[in-house]
Amino acid sequence: MSHAGKVAFITGGAIGFGYAFAEALGSQGASVVIAEINMEAANAAVARLQSAGIRAIALECDVADDVAVDAAVAKTIAEFGGIDILINNAGLHLTKYNLPFSTLTRAEVRALFDVNVIGIVNCSVSALESMRSRGGGSIINISSMASNMSTSPYGVSKLAVRGLTMAFAKEFADAGIRVNAISPGLMATDSAMADLPPAMIESIINDMQFIHRRGEVEDIVNMMLFLVSDKASFITGETYKVSGGAALVI
Ligand SMILES: NC(=O)c1ccc[n+]([C@@H]2O[C@H](COP(=O)([O-])OP(=O)(O)OC[C@H]3O[C@@H](n4cnc5c(N)ncnc54)[C@H](O)[C@@H]3O)[C@@H](O)[C@H]2O)c1
Repeated sequence: MSHAGKVAFITGGAIGFGYAFAEALGSQGASVVIAEINMEAANAAVARLQSAGIRAIALECDVADDVAVDAAVAKTIAEFGGIDILINNAGLHLTKYNLPFSTLTRAEVRALFDVNVIGIVNCSVSALESMRSRGGGSIINISSMASNMSTSPYGVSKLAVRGLTMAFAKEFADAGIRVNAISPGLMATDSAMADLPPAMIESIINDMQFIHRRGEVEDIVNMMLFLVSDKASFITGETYKVSGGAALVI
């Protein structure tokens, strides 16, 4: 599959899934935008992408801030001409957000929902007209298997991501934009591995997953590449689990 001539706007694209998405789409010919709050990591990511021959830029953009998102989308249009693929990947996901609501301050709860939920609204609405003017495109939202039981602040925020996926699939369909979500289980990004105690990681792999190996970033990249491709041209509004079976037992 070639994405030559396409532009992908990837939130939280400096590290983890986001960087891997940028690398995968960039190596298939897309120009990539790393929309980030961590500019040091974003600039390092862009240098690595460029040295691999990928057209890439880093833009400072807190997805929770609608003014910053509009500015980043405008800069993308000025630099690369528009947006074809939007990947709403930026998210807060540390252990504390999996604790009960009553253990978090109201400000922490608001910050979580501002990034994980409102961030997707901001980016999707902001990218709409550019995507429509280019004949449509594809939006991928990153949910989580924690949305299945949805008993934590994080789980509820990621359940909302699945709701937004259905809402925008309907709302953006006439613009030729498909909207789907990926719901990963535990995947071996550096931040997820550093955040969880090794015993919990082992227990997820051995007791919860049916496939007893570590979930790799590549597993999520493969689903993303399928969903943005023409092979998925009849698929919209769906959330796909990629969890080695773990999502079926929680
Ligand atoms: N790693 C996993 O096991 C796993 C499982 C399920 C879902 N997810 C989801 O996948 C996504 C990426 O996960 P990851 O492990 O790669 O995360 P990560 O923490 O490694 O990377 C997230 C990136 O997002 C950026 N970011 C954070 N807040 C931002 C904001 N307000 N605006 C712009 N950028 C921001 C960070 O600077 C960072 O570079 C998240 O939405 C996460 O909830 C991850």
